[in-house]
Amino acid sequence: MYERLAPLFALAETGPVLDLVESFPDRRSIRLEIGSGNGDLASSFARSHPDVGLIAVDVHRPGIARLLADIDAFGLGNLRVVEGDALVFLDRLPDASIDEVWAFFPDPWPKNAQSHRRLVTSERMARIARVLKSGGSLRLATDVAAYAQQMRGVLAADPNFVRVEDERPTWRIETHFEREGRERGRAAVDLRAIRR
Ligand SMILES: C[S@@+](CC[C@H](N)C(=O)[O-])C[C@H]1O[C@@H](n2cnc3c(N)ncnc32)[C@H](O)[C@@H]1O
Repeated sequence: MYERLAPLFALAETGPVLDLVESFPDRRSIRLEIGSGNGDLASSFARSHPDVGLIAVDVHRPGIARLLADIDAFGLGNLRVVEGDALVFLDRLPDASIDEVWAFFPDPWPKNAQSHRRLVTSERMARIARVLKSGGSLRLATDVAAYAQQMRGVLAADPNFVRVEDERPTWRIETHFEREGRERGRAAVDLRAIRR
């Protein structure tokens, strides 16, 4: 299944800068999901927003395989997947080409020795800001209070973003991952930062 569908619907993690008009003909709004997990949100969003292009990236092959199966089953011409590191894939995106970047529940790396691996750092936010259109949004969610605080601090200090709001989008369904956290008493914080 993966071998049949990936050449049709997956974009390579590395390679030349992409022509997004070619990847998403007739779709003027394009979104990038970093860490799509098991694919719950990407699949639901792509089915309910056929006019919006979505690129879902994860290093975890089973989730990408599930999305490939959904693209095939539901004819989702607006969804493309990348099996790989989103931070590497970013280099394939043109400047100011993406309307929204999402990173919902990025790995929190709670131990001090691993905290440098967190997605939300000043250097990584600058790389994300490069691909966002002016007025576009970076949307984040986490259920780890210390990481939410770090997200707010990094974004507030980042000159590429004009303001940071607490806003959970209506289309952000509760994934299996979020539900498990909620059932253990962890509440999600949603943030939206607007690109200057
Ligand atoms: C905690 S899970 C959350 C998944 C999903 N967003 C959700 O809300 O259910 C974090 C996901 O990020 C993925 N991930 C971590 N680092 C990544 C990277 N550099 N590029 C792409 N995906 C990454 C992991 O494989 C995992 O699927």
